[in-house]
Amino acid sequence: MRIVFLGQPGSGKGTQSERLVRYLNIPHLSTGDMLRQAQTDGTPVGELAAKYLTSGRLVPDNVILDVVKERLEHDDCRRGCLFDGFPRTVPQAKALDAYLQSHDCPLQVVLQLHVPEDLLVQRLLGRGRDDDTSEAIHERFRQYEALTKPLVDYYGRQGLLKRIDGTGTPKEVFDRIKEALASVGPAGPISA
Ligand code: AP5
Ligand code: MG
Repeated sequence: MRIVFLGQPGSGKGTQSERLVRYLNIPHLSTGDMLRQAQTDGTPVGELAAKYLTSGRLVPDNVILDVVKERLEHDDCRRGCLFDGFPRTVPQAKALDAYLQSHDCPLQVVLQLHVPEDLLVQRLLGRGRDDDTSEAIHERFRQYEALTKPLVDYYGRQGLLKRIDGTGTPKEVFDRIKEALASVGPAGPISA
């Protein structure tokens, strides 16, 4: 199964992805995690991404698309995958559609986690990742509004979008996600 998690910074994409990949037994493709790992490893992508990560601006599409396509070539992605924080722009979404169509494995569902903004800020300031400063958080929100939110319509038009209430405990949110997936197809581990 191929799933996209869409949602503002702090909406719980990473938290819910961890649960969902265990549940479905598919790999977790978080572009944020990949970029932070590249930074830790000191690769050219990591060096390029550093200034974007710190400021909260999006990394250029071509860089992200190279990273994701390389990851999708790994064998474990044949049984599906969960995209967390990708795509983030309409050009990224179009490129992903083209890639998946050419491999005859389109997306099945896009889960949009919705959480009110005051709660998001509370969650992020409580976590304290390097980009969880007040300034970077607000830039990340601005980038979401300008560049990522249009994906709600993009995937809505394709009939793929499921909006999930992201408030409550992580377990409550996960139960809603399982319910939403049950209307897409079998809820257990799925191949292809
Ligand atoms: P990325 O790593 O994707 O960060 P983000 O989208 O800003 O989102 P977060 O990871 O902060 O939040 P989340 O939704 O995963 O929430 P989480 O589960 O952690 O991207 C970082 C940067 O990388 C971007 O700014 C950009 O520069 C770059 N980048 C990444 N992808 C890119 C792309 N495709 N294109 C271009 N640039 C890209 O939860 C947050 C906190 O809340 C945690 O502490 C968690 O424990 C807590 N929490 C979660 N759920 C609950 C709950 N139900 N109740 C209470 N607390 C909760
Ligand atoms: Mg995350």
